Amino acid sequence: MTGAARGVVLKLGGELLEDADGRRDIATAIRRLASRAPLVVVHGGGREVDTDMAALGISKRAVDGLRLTDAATLDVVVGVLAGRVNTRLVAAARVAGVPAVGLTAADAGVSSVQRAEPYTAADGTIVDLGFVGQPTGADEPELLNQLCQADLVPIVASIGADSGGQLLNVNADTLAGHLAARLGAARLLIAGGTPGVLDEHDRTIPSMSLDLLHGFLVDGRASAGMVAKLIACREARRAGVDRVDIVTGKHTDDLDTTAGTMIGD
Ligand SMILES: Nc1ncnc2c1ncn2[C@@H]1O[C@H](COP(=O)(O)OP(=O)(O)OP(=O)(O)O)[C@@H](O)[C@H]1O
Ligand SMILES: [Mg+2]
Repeated sequence: MTGAARGVVLKLGGELLEDADGRRDIATAIRRLASRAPLVVVHGGGREVDTDMAALGISKRAVDGLRLTDAATLDVVVGVLAGRVNTRLVAAARVAGVPAVGLTAADAGVSSVQRAEPYTAADGTIVDLGFVGQPTGADEPELLNQLCQADLVPIVASIGADSGGQLLNVNADTLAGHLAARLGAARLLIAGGTPGVLDEHDRTIPSMSLDLLHGFLVDGRASAGMVAKLIACREARRAGVDRVDIVTGKHTDDLDTTAGTMIGD
């Protein structure tokens, strides 16, 4: 096994990381996963960003789960994700015995990121997302491979920088899907607050073909953060990631056994 190839990319929704009990469970889940295969963790922090923005009187705007990011919003996103959320998770993982290393996509050897093109929303409108980044290129996430080879567990906050040094806000599912594809991971495991992808009756869909996934994207059964999530899952599957799941990460310390949706083809 070399680096993170054939390993697991685990994406954690920020909702799972807000309180100490949740972080303790997730840290144990990280330890279990890392004991079985090389592991790279990517996390978001959406709701904590919302809370800080509200406290500062900055209003939130998002389209298909992508946050419209002006300069004031970017400052909050960077401070919350790369600062508080990342550091707290790294510390909780260390307590659980995980040799965790915190970083962002602005670090060398994680992912090139460029400013996102204007976005065509599910409803057809074209939106300038502001300081939002898109992971790019076919470059190997060399640092992540090296950390995995050294039996360390990288924990990546979804902040990047473009070639001019401008910091950019990257959707954490988008980054996780891209890294899973670039690393040649065996599995992309996306854990969040909902028990997988829900149908129109709020029932978990156990498995979802790429055709059904497309249907959810075009007819609005997937909205908000689920849009970026499904697009990331599709990218990973198309790049050859064998197994892609969206599962609940709540009240569990073993993410291998939780209910969710398997994304197939
Ligand atoms: N069909 C669907 N099934 C499940 N959730 C859906 C669906 N359509 C829309 N959603 C919404 O997508 C949300 C998940 O995306 P969201 O971006 O909010 O969380 P996350 O990606 O886990 O967290 P973070 O952004 O912090 O990384 C759900 O809470 C739900 O409101
Ligand atoms: Mg999200």
